[in-house]
Amino acid sequence: MNKKITVIPGDGIGPEVIRSAIKVLDCIAAKFNHEFTYQYAKLGGVAIDEEGTPLPQRTIDLCKDSDGVLLGAVGGPKWDTLPGSLRPEKGLLGIRKALQLYANLRPVKAHKSLLDASTLKKEVVEGVDLLIVRELTGGLYFGQPQERRHEADGEAVVDTLYYKKSEIERIVKQAFELARLRNKKVTSVDKANVLESSRLWREVAVEVAGNYPDIELEHMLVDNAAMQLIRNPKQFDVVVTENMFGDILSDEASMLTGSLGMLPSASIGGDGPGLYEPIHGSAPDIAGKNIANPLATILSVAMMLRFSFHWIEEADAIEEAVTNVLEAGYRTGDIAEKGETILNTDEMTEKVLENIHLAITN
Ligand code: IPM
Ligand code: MN
Repeated sequence: MNKKITVIPGDGIGPEVIRSAIKVLDCIAAKFNHEFTYQYAKLGGVAIDEEGTPLPQRTIDLCKDSDGVLLGAVGGPKWDTLPGSLRPEKGLLGIRKALQLYANLRPVKAHKSLLDASTLKKEVVEGVDLLIVRELTGGLYFGQPQERRHEADGEAVVDTLYYKKSEIERIVKQAFELARLRNKKVTSVDKANVLESSRLWREVAVEVAGNYPDIELEHMLVDNAAMQLIRNPKQFDVVVTENMFGDILSDEASMLTGSLGMLPSASIGGDGPGLYEPIHGSAPDIAGKNIANPLATILSVAMMLRFSFHWIEEADAIEEAVTNVLEAGYRTGDIAEKGETILNTDEMTEKVLENIHLAITN
């Protein structure tokens, strides 16, 4: 099979972890008799520097004309003082919107061999396997107006939390569909004791649940959810929530796995290609040093093969290779315990490649 992939390295450690991901894709192509055509596109800081905008039209066109989009990371201190509309992050939000990627899937799985890397107790994180389904194209991130105001009595500011019922419906449905393939429980997270948007969210969740009698629905207030995630994360299966809550809770949940450097994500839902990216940022402090953890991006590749191409065997091969490499004790700096040998980005990638080879020749 031939697939065309738009590759967006972005900023900071983006290009390094993307290089690793491409090596993994090439390895899968060779092993399973596929062919990938890569087309590179600019987004974020690098696009601002070279083209004067965080999201060039050409990038949107390239993405739309492909089977999947693989993204590194965007942003960095260099562009932090630019006005909101010109920041690198605006490029990321813009491409999510342009491709109508309303569903962001963030699986959080505690790897057995990494239990000690978490700041939480082993008993708490052992066996954690949850999926955050984050609404990605609405809410505070996109609501208008979003502006500063100069009012008679001083400066003021407004962000808008806006949702159409249809937007809530489609993401909640997505969560129920995914729960059906997992442990059949959906936790809908909101702030219905305060926000009107959350009250509609809750009503819609109940309505949608009517069509899924086999799935258990529970509601949880977001402050409680933040607490429950570290108190007893094993109670969760699928967590569905609006854009901003999902952003915050997914960073929190990543620590159950020991590092932000471990978590992949898939953004899907549009008519066109899905977008796959690690949930970590561009980590400018370690950029260019070949020490970043490439596993989140490599696992994002596995998600692309699974969700966009429906190549289950190939996706499993990558995920198993990552598990094996961790079980064999290989670590990048972010997940290493005192005294453990630390591999750099390229060395870690090599270990994953070796393992894919092994798994398949066996
Ligand atoms: C994420 C990131 C982005 C977000 C930023 C970089 C705009 O934190 O993907 O979680 O808030 O969505
Ligand atoms: Mn985030």
